[in-house]
Amino acid sequence: MRKMSYPYQITSFEAYQEAYQKSIEDPAAFWESVAEHFVWKQRWTSKDQVLNWNFTDPNIEWFKGAKLNITENCLDRHLAERGNQPAIIWEPNSPDEPHRIITYKKLHEKVCSFAQVLKNNGVHKGDRVCIYMGMIPELAIAVLACARIGAIHSVVFGGFSAQSIADRLEDAKAEFIITCDGAFRGAKDIPLKAVIDEALIGNKIVKRVIVCTRTHTPVSMIKGRDVWWEDEMKQVEERGNLFIEAESMDAEDPLFILYTSGSTGKPKGVVHSTAGYMIYTTYTFVNVFQYQPNQIHFCTADIGWITGHSYIVYGPLSAGATSLLFEGVPTFPDAGRFWDIVDKYKVNILYTAPTAIRSLMGFGLGPLQGKDLSSLKVLGTVGEPINEEAWHWYDEHVGKKKCPIVDTWWQTETGGCLISNMAGITPAKPSWATLPMPGVQLLLVDEKGEEIKAAADETISGNLCIKAPWPSILRTTYGDHERCRTNYFATYPGLYFTGDGALRDKDGNYRITGRVDDVLNVSGHRIGTAEVENAINMHAGVVESAVVGFPHEVKGQGIYAYVIYQGSQAQDSHGSGDLVRKDILQTVTRIIGAIAKPDKIQFVSGLPKTRSGKIMRRILRKIAEGETENLGDTSTLLDPGVVDEIKRGRR
Ligand code: WT7
Repeated sequence: MRKMSYPYQITSFEAYQEAYQKSIEDPAAFWESVAEHFVWKQRWTSKDQVLNWNFTDPNIEWFKGAKLNITENCLDRHLAERGNQPAIIWEPNSPDEPHRIITYKKLHEKVCSFAQVLKNNGVHKGDRVCIYMGMIPELAIAVLACARIGAIHSVVFGGFSAQSIADRLEDAKAEFIITCDGAFRGAKDIPLKAVIDEALIGNKIVKRVIVCTRTHTPVSMIKGRDVWWEDEMKQVEERGNLFIEAESMDAEDPLFILYTSGSTGKPKGVVHSTAGYMIYTTYTFVNVFQYQPNQIHFCTADIGWITGHSYIVYGPLSAGATSLLFEGVPTFPDAGRFWDIVDKYKVNILYTAPTAIRSLMGFGLGPLQGKDLSSLKVLGTVGEPINEEAWHWYDEHVGKKKCPIVDTWWQTETGGCLISNMAGITPAKPSWATLPMPGVQLLLVDEKGEEIKAAADETISGNLCIKAPWPSILRTTYGDHERCRTNYFATYPGLYFTGDGALRDKDGNYRITGRVDDVLNVSGHRIGTAEVENAINMHAGVVESAVVGFPHEVKGQGIYAYVIYQGSQAQDSHGSGDLVRKDILQTVTRIIGAIAKPDKIQFVSGLPKTRSGKIMRRILRKIAEGETENLGDTSTLLDPGVVDEIKRGRR
């Protein structure tokens, strides 16, 4: 049995089973007993307030009417006991630059000061603030300062293009932007402010851009619109020790928007609310990783993704943990960087993505040599299914077979981990995410939405759905509630549909098999095929395109694009194909960002379509996977001949 350091920490398998049982029998009572351990400005007054929901509208309310501010939970409440403990340890991109340690006291001060800066610049409760920064402590400060005053942050990953930012700004009607001059990522400098300037061409809504200095890349500042972070902070800080009262927020007030891809061309703004998100991310942080006070938690994700929101910022800080924030990439200056960081700070928990593990595996054991990894206690993975080979490599060479590995399954929409083992408490099973967290009621359904029931000892397979809300389920998609309904709650009425397929074994363990919709998972990044098609189609010469995924050794999935190009210019026999390919890749980078660039582009004269004009992606997927024999029934195709041509031209 482990030490119970939090009142809601689960320390044995029996305790897990008991908690699970309670959470299903009486979800309100269960989460009420967890919620008591947080700081509220005004508690809920009756149990009826704890949970109200239906999946029809959908409408989900946890603790509605109760009041709190998440930053009082992440900062103020720790000051007395751990004010001088590091809240954030920052490791810069270059190992030659000094690192920074930000104690809870310091972080609290900085967040208050920057909250005042936001107020001085006209930001009010409920306003949307777009944050486009690299992984520096100021990013966490910006996020928390928004939460302090009740502004809704929308963090956009630094790899997205100007066009993507413009779309997100417009969708969120954001009036404020916080950015940097640039960002360092490995050997690259990303000119963030220049990208913002491009995104703002024609934008009439954004009133203020606050620019934090990082790379000293020259930038042009627009009078009346752009201000420097440092100047604004100085003005506030010169007035002396500053404290800003945390805004009183309703439990159900939105905390943030985070855009994510779906099966249509347009990313949707997933909206998370305050109390439920806080409670669930803290609860899962403490239980999944079995966090013990003073441990160093290193989540390698970017704060631009949900993993960073939940397990670098909110979950760990609310639990009073020390969270390591790393600016760089795993392979810079060499493939030993993660191990150097673990060694340097005596990291106890390492949480990363299968794609990172596979990519580091490719460098062999050399980069691990001479690195002291003995501080590690728990390893974690997230973002995509982990293959057994990578799992064992992680276990043997990183964890030295002494560290439990937690395989955490969840989504932007779920806010926190829903399926995972708890480190050292519930059993691990390589490549299986294993058991649901307390409060998570899973089921597998067939195409018609009928629940698949297992006979004794049987492993079943189906589409993964959830019966009832957990505290951090998304509440809506920003500005378009109907889209939230049709996307998640309409496929199988009465259920939340994850979009994933899964297996369940006789012991109730789940193995995620991957998306069953038109969403790809490339290096743990979620990309909609329709989004990539739209971007490719923007290229002047492209007539039509179809994008599918294919298995990729490092990325998990690669992007395969079939493109009909105008005229014969792009025929490979003319030798100009590669030039056009390069051009198309540039277009995709401009429209979405480099993460969405296809790995393979094949020029075709037609696409396999049914008589009603629907592209038969199944066939394209098979060919991309290298399967050219058993393509299934092609008799319904308008022009079956096109399939042979596509097979011959496979790349
Ligand atoms: C999709 C969600 C959760 C934060 C990172 C990704 C896939 C996620 C696992 C896992 C197998 C996983 C699913 C899911 N996924 N974790 N442990 N095993 N698949 O968040 O971008 O919203 O993507 O990632 O397909 O639906 P996201």
